[in-house]
Amino acid sequence: MESSMKSLSSDFGLYFKSFNLFIERSTEHQCVEKFIDENLLDVVTSIGKKGVSCLNVLGVGSGSGKVDMKILGKIQSKHPGLPIHNEVVEPNPHQITKYKDLVKEKTQGLNISFTWNQMRSEEYEKQNKERKESRKFDFIHMIQMLYFVQSVPDTIKYFHSLLETNGKLLIIQAASDNGMHPLWKKVGSRFPTKSGFLGVLKVLDEMRVKYQLYEVSSDMDITECFIEGNDNGERLLDFLTDVADFRKTAPSDLKAEVLHNIRHPPCSREENGKILFNNNLHFIVVDN
Ligand SMILES: C[S@@+](CC[C@H](N)C(=O)[O-])C[C@H]1O[C@@H](n2cnc3c(N)ncnc32)[C@H](O)[C@@H]1O
Repeated sequence: MESSMKSLSSDFGLYFKSFNLFIERSTEHQCVEKFIDENLLDVVTSIGKKGVSCLNVLGVGSGSGKVDMKILGKIQSKHPGLPIHNEVVEPNPHQITKYKDLVKEKTQGLNISFTWNQMRSEEYEKQNKERKESRKFDFIHMIQMLYFVQSVPDTIKYFHSLLETNGKLLIIQAASDNGMHPLWKKVGSRFPTKSGFLGVLKVLDEMRVKYQLYEVSSDMDITECFIEGNDNGERLLDFLTDVADFRKTAPSDLKAEVLHNIRHPPCSREENGKILFNNNLHFIVVDN
């Protein structure tokens, strides 16, 4: 029975159906936009080596580029005279197509060029090492993507090593009290994905690098998960468990356990008849 479950994130089409619904039902992108509007200008003020003629930016796991475009706009507004070269590492071809469409729509008047790498971060690292390339970046971001990499410590260490003098690395990740942690601690060993809801802060502490941590409250309305046969509820359940068609393919005891856990603290709270899953976030800005 258990073996019939398939990982959601390995199915490019289905994953984004669930992810887009997560974005609609959560305050995630509002929080990210608020951070970009209120904190990013300060963060990017000091990037760029003295006398540089171009700023180099790298997005890892960029998805459809919605957040990346906002980040690029902010960097350009802080450094108006400087062209930006933006490199993208994203394995999902559909997302890259969407990102390219967005670029056509949004980059008029902005001096930004792009390089597209349709591949996983691990392949990007391997390719760079084989070519003995050591391109450096003034700003690198990894937004909600470290759950999917083979090794969180190796990925952070590699991309941190690509920072240029004065460069910054922005990581956005589930906070330590985010409901994903208790859920995956309890039943994660039964899901097909071996996700890294691992301590990013622990990795940074072990690397002895300097970082600033911003803790942001966010939630996700999962009320529809408790309406039998509700399609949105099914997609949200898939998102929480990273199982494609969780309700149809999971063994009944696992389904019951997941539904019980996501309905109660510490995963969720009830407010005005809604079940709100804790989606608190950590915004971490790492110095070179
Ligand atoms: C949760 S989405 C986040 C998308 C975007 N950063 C955002 O916050 O809107 C995670 C993204 O990471 C990508 N991804 C998954 N595994 C990856 C890997 N090993 N290397 C790079 N990107 C990866 C997925 O294709 C997906 O676009």
